[in-house]
Amino acid sequence: MKIAALFLVSLALLAQHVQDEDKKKRNPAIGNPQAIAEGEKMFNSGCAGCHGPGGQGGRGPNLAFGRVMWHTLTDEQTFQLIRDGVPNAGMPPSSMPEEKLWQLAAYVKSLREPAAEAPLQGNADLGKEIFWGKGRCQGCHSIRGSGGKLGPDLSNVGGTRPAGYIRMAIVEPGSQGSKGFEKASITLKAGKKLDGVIKNRNNYSLQLLDAKGDLHLLLVKDIAAMEIAKDSMMPALGKALSSEELDGLVAYLGKQTVRPVELGRN
Ligand code: HEC
Ligand code: HEC
Repeated sequence: MKIAALFLVSLALLAQHVQDEDKKKRNPAIGNPQAIAEGEKMFNSGCAGCHGPGGQGGRGPNLAFGRVMWHTLTDEQTFQLIRDGVPNAGMPPSSMPEEKLWQLAAYVKSLREPAAEAPLQGNADLGKEIFWGKGRCQGCHSIRGSGGKLGPDLSNVGGTRPAGYIRMAIVEPGSQGSKGFEKASITLKAGKKLDGVIKNRNNYSLQLLDAKGDLHLLLVKDIAAMEIAKDSMMPALGKALSSEELDGLVAYLGKQTVRPVELGRN
């Protein structure tokens, strides 16, 4: 019985392996960092006019992760859609050679794929060192229970965010929206001034989490003035990092996932 079960498992693994190999042969651009970079260049010149820089949306729909996808396309469907366009909806067909179309499809896929499932070039060990060391990221972010609470928990950031999103969040804090982490300056009627991130706000009260991690429960009737900043609480630390260090951070964060990646594949 046990042997039969083992045999079945290894058969399934073998089938999966053959399938993966098969896929690679058919569209070698998918998941290949160089092909993705080529696709990005073509996208910027031929597609960004409608889909926005980085696929963030414009005249054409947003192609990047960050909004809910109503339907996701398979690699083949993405390829076909780019080739054939959607003429009656305003997306023109493309007469590029197959190889180029696959590079575009690989780039479009990389915009939506969780970082944990994407091939990342950076040195994750270097990134780990920076995260817990000179980057001071751990002052505001926690991973699996260690670290600060001012910023979002990053334990599953690789399982829920594409690599491009993680990179943008580091280089241009707040560019992805600060929902749930609005930075505020509050002056109390008693004269005291407090800075921090607003949590659990309602008509009568709110909680302000300050940089030290202390949570202040404030009653709206005690507040004299409240200023909500447009910029992010997160400093633009990414600007002080070399590109190697930045790639490393993206690779390290991209690996942060709370479930085994294999189970998440489809
Ligand atoms: C003239 C504007 C325009 C240009 C140029 C354009 N698109 Fe589109 N694209 C659209 C519109 C509009 C849609 C939505 C079609 C629909 O409603 O089904 C779309 C849809 C898509 C979709 C499907 C989105 C989804 O998830 O359903 C992909 C992928 C896509 N475009 C990729 C590209 C790529 C790659 C290029 C460059 C080769 C490109 N587009 C050039 C306008 C454009
Ligand atoms: C002073 C606090 C603070 C520090 C230090 C900080 N962050 Fe942030 N971070 C935030 C806040 C707050 C957000 C929420 C979004 C926003 O407001 O930009 C955020 C968002 C993020 C996100 C996006 C998470 C998501 O799922 O949307 C990533 C990734 C990130 N930070 C990485 C880093 C890295 C890497 C460092 C170190 C180089 C760092 N942060 C340092 C406060 C901080």
